[in-house]
Order: sequence, then C-alpha cells, then structure tokens
Amino acid sequence: MSTQQPEPESQEAPTDPEFQGAESSVDEAERSGGDIDQTAADPTDLEGETVLIKVFRYDPEVEAKQEPRFDDFHVPFTKGMTALDAVIYARDQYDSSLTFRHSCRQAVCGSDAFFINGKQRLACKTQIAELEQPIRIEPLPHQEVVKDLVVDMDHFYDQMHAVEPYFQNEETPAIEDLEEQRQSRENREKIKMSTRCIWCGACMSSCNIAAGDNEYLGPAAINKAYRFAMDDREPEEIKEHRLRIVEQEHGVWRCQTQFSCTEVCPKDIPLTEHIQELKREAVKKNLKFW
Ligand code: SF4
Ligand code: FES
Repeated sequence: MSTQQPEPESQEAPTDPEFQGAESSVDEAERSGGDIDQTAADPTDLEGETVLIKVFRYDPEVEAKQEPRFDDFHVPFTKGMTALDAVIYARDQYDSSLTFRHSCRQAVCGSDAFFINGKQRLACKTQIAELEQPIRIEPLPHQEVVKDLVVDMDHFYDQMHAVEPYFQNEETPAIEDLEEQRQSRENREKIKMSTRCIWCGACMSSCNIAAGDNEYLGPAAINKAYRFAMDDREPEEIKEHRLRIVEQEHGVWRCQTQFSCTEVCPKDIPLTEHIQELKREAVKKNLKFW
C-alpha cells in the first residue's frame, strides 16, 4: 500500500473572517513527536475551557488548498466530548469545508477512524479529556488522502472482499427443506470477537507489513477469513478453500506478530491471535502422514 499522505508545510493563517477561533499552522516537530496521552487532563479540569485541535487539511481540487497544512480550532469543551464532536464543532462553527466521514457516532459504522495524537482511533469513541493537548487529528496513514481527513478505502475493501466474507454452503436446499442452521454455544464463543469488525481500517493503517506490501491481505481481511473458517456450520471443503486463500504468499505468513493491529482495533479483536491460529490451521492442513 503506498504512502501518499502529503507531508504538511507551513502556511499563513487564513484571513477569512469566518475562521474566528480557527488558525492555520504547521509544526513539524509537533507532527512527528509529542507522544500521546501522558498528561491527559482530568475531565473536571476542562469544564468551561476550550481545547485546541490541530486538524490536517488538504484539498487537491482547490489550488489554494493543495499545500497540506494543519488548521487550529479552539473548541469549547463539554463533558463527554469526543474527538468526533470536536471536529463536527469545528466544521459547523468555523469552516464548513472541513471534510471527514462519520455516521453512527456510536462505534458501529466504522467510518471515522483517524490518526489522533499519533494513533489510529475511532473518533466517536475517543474522549477529548483523555488526550494530551494540542490534539492532532490526521487522516489514516498509509492510505491515499482524498481530502482533509477522508482517505481512499477502495484497496482496504478489495482486500476484505478477497477472502469471500460471506457464509458459504455448497448447496442451497429446496425451500421446503430449509431448516435452522444451529451453532453450538462453544463455536459461537470461539468466533464471537472476530464478528465484531466494523471495517474501519485502523488495523490495516497501523500495519507495517501492509504499508510495505500492497498485496498483503491485512489483519482485517484475515480476521474476516477466520470468522468463517472457524464457523462449524460451513462444510470442511469450504474451510479448506478459505485456508488456501489465507496461506497464499501475501496472506498469513506475511504477519510478523508486531501486534500493532491488535493494539489499535477499537473493537478489541485479538487480531494477531487469530492470524496465528490460522497459521497453525494451515500447517495442519498441509501435514501429510504416510
Ligand atoms: S479488525 Fe478492528 S481495526 Fe480492523 S477494520 Fe475491523 S474493527 Fe477496524
Ligand atoms: S461515527 Fe460510526 S463508528 Fe464512529
């Protein structure tokens, strides 16, 4: 996957009067350094205060905005405010051209994964009070930036679809023969965490291997393969077919167990564990005893 997120450079503060409370600035040292969360504020300390968010800006279609930069926005803190609330406030109050995806605001749709204070996070699940200020909000690394915080997710979706992320059974019975396909409690428990994926792309963005190998399936797609390969309701031959997909050159064997995907997953899916288990299953499948 190519790294096409433009590096920010300095730019004059916008003179647009609509930008009251908003400033444009870039500080390379701040962008690359300044680790996160070490001095996270006590939420009660922030009541009545404003917080400073520095938001990545880039618009390839507007000549004046083709130079990547950060804009500063001063946002009044409210109890329970999330990073998503903060960028929504900045957009609604200061600059309606600020562009980002969001929908459910409750960690379900997976559309607002950003790079916040140096880590992939779901903005609607990230409390402002738990972040060190100033808060840097950037698009997901290792993805092509479309505009501001919006990245191109096509490649991620292609990898997800490559593992055939749907239940398969060889034959569909006649309608009169249809019956409930029950799953044991134990099997449900086994795949439970893997079913929680919301396709946010945070894990893929955090993965060094995916950054260097555009064909690597990536942790989310492999987790999706795990979800079905471990489901007892699919026939054995389909499981073998799934293992053949993930044991390919750019599949599970590319994972170097760095755990970055597991660390950033907002749904706490044990991705590295699942990848390791599929490696073991692939080995077992290929063992032959004469
Ligand atoms: S596995 Fe986790 S981080 Fe990766 S896409 Fe799914 S929910 Fe997001
Ligand atoms: S807005 Fe849907 S996951 Fe955050």
